[in-house]
Amino acid sequence: MKRYHDIVGDGGSRVLEQVAEQRARVTDGLAGVRHLVAVGSGKGGVGKSTLTLQLAGALRARGLRIAILDADFNGPSQARMAGVQEALFVPGSHKVALPRTTNGIAVFSMGSMIPESEALEFESASHGESHTWRATREFALLGEILRSFEWGSLDLLMFDLPPGAERTVQYAEYLGPRTSFVLVTIPSEVARGVVARSVAALSKGPNRVLGYVENMSGYYCRDCNAIKPLFDSHDQPAPGQRRLEIPCLGTVPFDPELARHCDRGIPLAELPDTPVGRALEHVAQQLLDSLESTPEFPR
Ligand SMILES: Nc1ncnc2c1ncn2[C@@H]1O[C@H](COP(=O)(O)OP(=O)(O)OP(=O)(O)O)[C@@H](O)[C@H]1O
Ligand SMILES: [Mg+2]
Repeated sequence: MKRYHDIVGDGGSRVLEQVAEQRARVTDGLAGVRHLVAVGSGKGGVGKSTLTLQLAGALRARGLRIAILDADFNGPSQARMAGVQEALFVPGSHKVALPRTTNGIAVFSMGSMIPESEALEFESASHGESHTWRATREFALLGEILRSFEWGSLDLLMFDLPPGAERTVQYAEYLGPRTSFVLVTIPSEVARGVVARSVAALSKGPNRVLGYVENMSGYYCRDCNAIKPLFDSHDQPAPGQRRLEIPCLGTVPFDPELARHCDRGIPLAELPDTPVGRALEHVAQQLLDSLESTPEFPR
């Protein structure tokens, strides 16, 4: 059996060329997009998908041309949340048109293609799928999605990332240095610890991290029109509590009504005049300000 060092070049696999070709496909597909923002965390279930959709909605209401690419291929939430689960894909002149939400956001989500009762399976080169193989297939799939669908000219393309700190970094690598990151956490030390790892890992690469959003920062009680603490640590940070060393773009309380809207796939055309709506507006403005101050990368 040949060892790694016995192989001259890439062993005839053209692996480096293939990676370069895949990367070019991703870059070409993003040429008409002004800003690229990946919403990640590292931690699962903290509200990445919810915030992606609601922030996209807030920015859409200001007239921006926006699309969401749900990059959580095996745990897609956007199709259901954005109400495009039953969307029909209509071939255009060259590429396939993307379904749109009722408020005009173009959405690609595997959830529009594969029923929730089925999982997306990548054929494996070997028995017992390796992480390397899976990552390669995901990267190839991302390139195909960007190439095959009509993204057009966009002000902003938001990527809804899957959980996992290592996958957050992997996507930074896939999407290239033009993509800025927003990280989502919740006011718990466990979540903050995981997100801190993503911050540390991203800081070693060229991608800009715009800041973090603290989601579920309290509970919005509609009956009493007040925010109540959800986590003990929220009101009284423990001495020496870990803080994320990146800007805070805002805090968003938990609102059961928002969760219901997400479950029913009803995108909000306008954010409500409630503490949660105002919090999301604030984060959207911070995001916009931060993006406008981002130096443009050469395309
Ligand atoms: N601020 C909020 N108010 C009400 N519900 C929320 C809020 N944030 C998230 N949720 C709800 O919490 C659940 C988890 O949120 P979401 O799916 O957005 O998390 P995620 O980080 O994308 O998860 P995953 O890691 O699985 O991708 C969803 O049911 C969502 O509707
Ligand atoms: Mg999600």
